[in-house]
Amino acid sequence: MDFDRRQLMVGLGALAAGSAVAALASTSREESNERNERFQQNGGDFSWTPHKLDPAECARVAYDGYWHKGYACGYGAFYSIIGVMGEKFGRPYSTFPFSMLEANKSGVCDWGTICGALYGAAASFALFWGREERKPLVDELFRWYETTKLPIYDPGAQATGYKGHLPATAVGSILCHISVSKWCYANKFEATSTERSERCGRITADVAFKAVEILNAKIDAGKKFSGSLPAQDSLTACGACHSTPGEETNWSKTRMDCTPCHSGSPAVQNKFENHP
Ligand code: HEC
Ligand code: HEC
Repeated sequence: MDFDRRQLMVGLGALAAGSAVAALASTSREESNERNERFQQNGGDFSWTPHKLDPAECARVAYDGYWHKGYACGYGAFYSIIGVMGEKFGRPYSTFPFSMLEANKSGVCDWGTICGALYGAAASFALFWGREERKPLVDELFRWYETTKLPIYDPGAQATGYKGHLPATAVGSILCHISVSKWCYANKFEATSTERSERCGRITADVAFKAVEILNAKIDAGKKFSGSLPAQDSLTACGACHSTPGEETNWSKTRMDCTPCHSGSPAVQNKFENHP
């Protein structure tokens, strides 16, 4: 090894030792840029500590979050819980990249699948509780959404989109497509109208209010938490054959109410023939 190269090696060694010391001195993992082991998660899975919040305050934040840069329902609901914890308690809540939840707008990028507000709330629960403890929280929130006439929240003169009363409809479904379409058909609003946007902003506030009530109740009850809403009649009746292990007709995988899709209502008849 020639002199120059040896000098270089020594120099590099000193540099490496120096950065190792720096890494040891560094207080946080992010600063040290330590690589994860596969499937390793900072702090452990479902490991953040939940804090009680004020449902009315969060509802207002959720409504404003819905309109913030048009980030909509998923962002509004999630921010109203985790973002507000970030405002009140700082880290780790404040470190979350909230705009990620914009993906849920209009049932995930306009696909009309799960209502984004419901996903935002369920995702926030998952920062604190794993599947077994989270399921009763999600059941309670989703069953409430299926059966409650929404919107309830009315921002009054502070409304961002449309000011004034909006009709409330129970849509029987957690899906954005069914929720929006049924409300628009029942009340004769275009799906692209300001009234419809406003309705979804208000529903984001309603979902946040309910989700925070559930969060607070869960913090009080701990592992003993159980929801107040029973499984839908259809889930129990149809599920006896279609969602029961061992049955030869055990084909259905859902906890949604079967009714809107399998009751033979006019809306789910064949529209590909003899239809305007
Ligand atoms: C007593 C058992 C039982 C119950 C309860 C039951 N089903 Fe079924 N279901 C069956 C059987 C058996 C078949 C298969 C029939 C066939 O192969 O033609 C079937 C088929 C189906 C199918 C697919 C075939 C078709 O006819 O469209 C759907 C969808 C379905 N059921 C939905 C439901 C819903 C929704 C409910 C509740 C309202 C329900 N079922 C309640 C036994 C049941
Ligand atoms: C959001 C609408 C929706 C809901 C809610 C829903 N289903 Fe379905 N289900 C469908 C659609 C659409 C299919 C596929 C039908 C097809 O194209 O064959 C299907 C398929 C099925 C099938 C397979 C039969 C087939 O013809 O492919 C069964 C069985 C079934 N559903 C039972 C249920 C039961 C039981 C529930 C309630 C616990 C339920 N579904 C809830 C829309 C729904």
